[in-house]
Amino acid sequence: MNKKETGLSDAFKRNITPKSLTKNPINGTKFTIAISSAKGGVGKSTFATNFALALKSLNCKVGILDADIYGPSIPKMMGLKEKPKSEDGKILIPVEQYGIQCMSIGFLVDEETPMIWRGPMVTSAIKTFTQKVLWKNLDFIIIDMPPGTGDTQLTFAQEIKVDGVIIVSTPQEIALLDVVRGINMFDKLKVPILGLVDNMSFFQNEDGKNYNIFGEGGVEKLANGNKKKFLGKIPIDIDLRVAADSGKPLTEKNPNHKISKIFSGIAKEIKESFL
Ligand SMILES: Nc1ncnc2c1ncn2[C@@H]1O[C@H](COP(=O)(O)OP(=O)(O)OP(=O)(O)O)[C@@H](O)[C@H]1O
Ligand SMILES: [Mg+2]
Repeated sequence: MNKKETGLSDAFKRNITPKSLTKNPINGTKFTIAISSAKGGVGKSTFATNFALALKSLNCKVGILDADIYGPSIPKMMGLKEKPKSEDGKILIPVEQYGIQCMSIGFLVDEETPMIWRGPMVTSAIKTFTQKVLWKNLDFIIIDMPPGTGDTQLTFAQEIKVDGVIIVSTPQEIALLDVVRGINMFDKLKVPILGLVDNMSFFQNEDGKNYNIFGEGGVEKLANGNKKKFLGKIPIDIDLRVAADSGKPLTEKNPNHKISKIFSGIAKEIKESFL
């Protein structure tokens, strides 16, 4: 009897094997650091802006790329309303604020206009921001990621040379579940995880007593359990929130504030691991 081969043909196997992707660095930048979390609203943008400014005060040249196409926060948090200029109508020039070069979809659309875009349009916007922006001599470009593990994360991980990612989370159990998903995604995509940050870690009352509103120690435990670095705790702080809403992040507004010092400690550690 004629035995039929049931295995996959070589040609088919070649087709389904992922191609090795070329990862390009972002022009004009040395190191790309993404600020991520699988869960929304845990403080990524707050961390990204204060961390960027803390790196700047350590004499680094820094840029922020707002990769949150559906919910950009950088224009508001950096107090920017300007539209970026363009060179030859092709290349966008970042808007500079507090010595940081910034780019966001929020500069190009009205504050109240929703971005009703499908995935491929988002991917194409990310490509424009990474390939067609005139970033100038940056030591670090900080990417403020949207929440989740979707198109934007995949585009960065597969097509752009991301030198490391910092994962931000609150210590709440429901947020920690998402952190595990985030860690697994970046491990799978071979993007180095620089460490985990525990944001809104606790609230300190005027009497000095700490309240663990979202639980305690979860992020650090998770970092240890997954052999990742734990970068530190940032408490819930009204000055941090007010500064973010006012358009001048706390690290810039008051570098001597105890929260600003936490950001500069983390920035120093990260800077030393690269430069
Ligand atoms: N440690 C903190 N203390 C007080 N308020 C904070 C702290 N961290 C963040 N916030 C506030 O919490 C809100 C959410 O923070 P932020 O926008 O940075 O989160 P996000 O993770 O970027 O959200 P999204 O997933 O929507 O992008 C903001 O109003 C911010 O000012
Ligand atoms: Mg955000």
